[in-house]
Amino acid sequence: MAKKKSILDLYKMKENGEKAAWIVLYDACFASYAEDAGMDMILCGDSVGMIVYGFPGTVPVTMDVSIAHCQAVRRGAPNTYLIGDLPFGSYHASCEDAVRNAVRFYKEADVDAVKLEGGVAVADKIRAIVNAGMVVFGHIGLTPQSSASMGGFKAQGRTTGSARAIIEDAIAVYKAGARVLLLEGVPEEVCAYIHRMLPIPVYGIGAGADCDGQVLLAADALGMYKSFTPKFAKKYADIAGLATQGMSDYIREVKGGEFPAPEHKYKISGDAADFEKLFDEMAPLFGD
Ligand code: KIV
Repeated sequence: MAKKKSILDLYKMKENGEKAAWIVLYDACFASYAEDAGMDMILCGDSVGMIVYGFPGTVPVTMDVSIAHCQAVRRGAPNTYLIGDLPFGSYHASCEDAVRNAVRFYKEADVDAVKLEGGVAVADKIRAIVNAGMVVFGHIGLTPQSSASMGGFKAQGRTTGSARAIIEDAIAVYKAGARVLLLEGVPEEVCAYIHRMLPIPVYGIGAGADCDGQVLLAADALGMYKSFTPKFAKKYADIAGLATQGMSDYIREVKGGEFPAPEHKYKISGDAADFEKLFDEMAPLFGD
């Protein structure tokens, strides 16, 4: 079994030019597949709100929901670097909230880092969490928690004005003490520039290849989420197709009497005649 990575390993990988692959998932079962596959990191993301709970966005996700899923992921992948995702509203009001909720992830879900969205506007919250001894991953560019103010899930930084704001966010996140930066939904030129300028690992999702690694939602990468697939996602499997096919086979076999077959049944232990006697004895009890 591979040794669990630390933040220093992520820096070493960057130094050696080794790309990191991480994935977003929310349960013990898929976490165990990721660990078996040798995934470098797992993010238990607040996209759980969309993928698992069917909300149109991530805003409704609460701390309790995030912690419960993070605990499940940790149980499924005890040896994989795990990042907890601070949900909307858990760090915005005050530095105290930010630290208290980041601490919950560490204490209750045994995470290795927490991630939060935003740049200049949340730099004080990042600093507060870092000062309390935790590892922060910054997340800027297309930030789903503020998609309403962005007019939807839209790529950012496509004009020089918007790119300037993202670069300012990247600098603020770095200066606040974040150890890692995630860029989502930005042109590859902007990602490449930030990657070149910052000394910390910079990862991308929909940000091109010129960075230290990639993250994808398992729901997109494995073809599980039918409502929407972002342009940047690549489908490595078709779980939705397999699952629907499996379920329709099951329905057909139940209705046709093929399932359960003899190998799916428990056998009585003892004499069949004794069971017949028992059933006759008990039958009157079913009457009025
Ligand atoms: O919650 C999530 O899935 C994320 C990814 C988009 C990185 O934050």
